[in-house]
Amino acid sequence: MMAYPRAHALMKRGAEFLGSEYAILCGAMSWVSERNLVSAISNAGGFGVIACGAMTPELLDAEITATKALTSKPFGVNLITMHPGLFDLIAVCARHSIGLVVLAGGIPPKGSIEAIKEAGAKVICIPPTLALAKKYLRSGADALVIEGMEAGGHIGPVSTSVLAQEILPELAADHLVFVAGGIGRGEAIASYLEMGAAGVQLGTRFACASESIAHPAFKAAFFRGNARDAIASVQVDPRLPVIPVRALKNKGTEEFTAKQLEVAKLLDSGAIEMGEAQLQIEHFWAGALRRAVIDGDVENGSLMAGQSVGMVSKEEPVADIIATLMQECEAALAKR
Ligand SMILES: Cc1cc2nc3c(=O)[nH]c(=O)nc-3n(C[C@H](O)[C@H](O)[C@H](O)COP(=O)(O)O)c2cc1C
Repeated sequence: MMAYPRAHALMKRGAEFLGSEYAILCGAMSWVSERNLVSAISNAGGFGVIACGAMTPELLDAEITATKALTSKPFGVNLITMHPGLFDLIAVCARHSIGLVVLAGGIPPKGSIEAIKEAGAKVICIPPTLALAKKYLRSGADALVIEGMEAGGHIGPVSTSVLAQEILPELAADHLVFVAGGIGRGEAIASYLEMGAAGVQLGTRFACASESIAHPAFKAAFFRGNARDAIASVQVDPRLPVIPVRALKNKGTEEFTAKQLEVAKLLDSGAIEMGEAQLQIEHFWAGALRRAVIDGDVENGSLMAGQSVGMVSKEEPVADIIATLMQECEAALAKR
């Protein structure tokens, strides 16, 4: 007998679309979602996604090759729409016959969805509103991930629960919508599936899996962290835009506030121009995620984490995390 019959029934559409056993994506996490974690997720029945981040086409090419050596299961690639070499990266995915490309980080540039689909791949977009969700579907997106502000990393202003209520009743019957942000347990997965979601995407819960290459100090910070420690970066001055990022508070997040005040003062005094001021703000976090994930600098690096970090308490193999989520999901559905 199938292990999780109720959960499987609700995940069927999503799992068929992904080509995985469970409709559970591990959302791409820059520096974390590389060959080891991605292959472990796909090997365990989930769907792994390589985080291309700022990689060059050559690096992405090597990462895909290395991931393929570790799994024969399907996995996807997450591309950031602002990447200057976006179309070269799409070509790399096409050469490797990657079946699913996730376009993250803003409105996909003209021709990008078409270019991915021409190569025979499916496209997932991440709309921040219902209006954009409909637009992306009209533009050819095959599925959507809706991601609320509880999530780790770059976030929008709206919570997962509200996005789910706004978007699932409108679109989920006829389209594939995956829900992300703040999911730490299977009971929440069950609820979103019942609302019509095709599946879910988790990041934070998988970041510290045994197979994740994240530095032990990064993982330890996650194990210590509570929901309230994963805070969104705050913009201090209306002239100096800050894209909100949710991360564990540390010395770096405090210094970022101080930096904004300092730059605003320089701007007031005329010591620097607006362009230079905005650049200083933008550059503050350059390389910071790498410093935390790879070098283990948990004071100055960026410890991107979602509010579900409070539900991450120990290092576990990906297969155990997925089994726990599926058991919790099935038990919740069985109790209905
Ligand atoms: C450390 C970290 C890095 C991330 N990097 C990316 C990224 O490069 N591209 C992206 O689309 N999402 C990124 N995300 C978001 C995840 O893909 C995922 O949607 C999110 O973690 C889901 O919410 P959760 O953290 O509450 O599970 C990142 C998240 C974390 C925690």
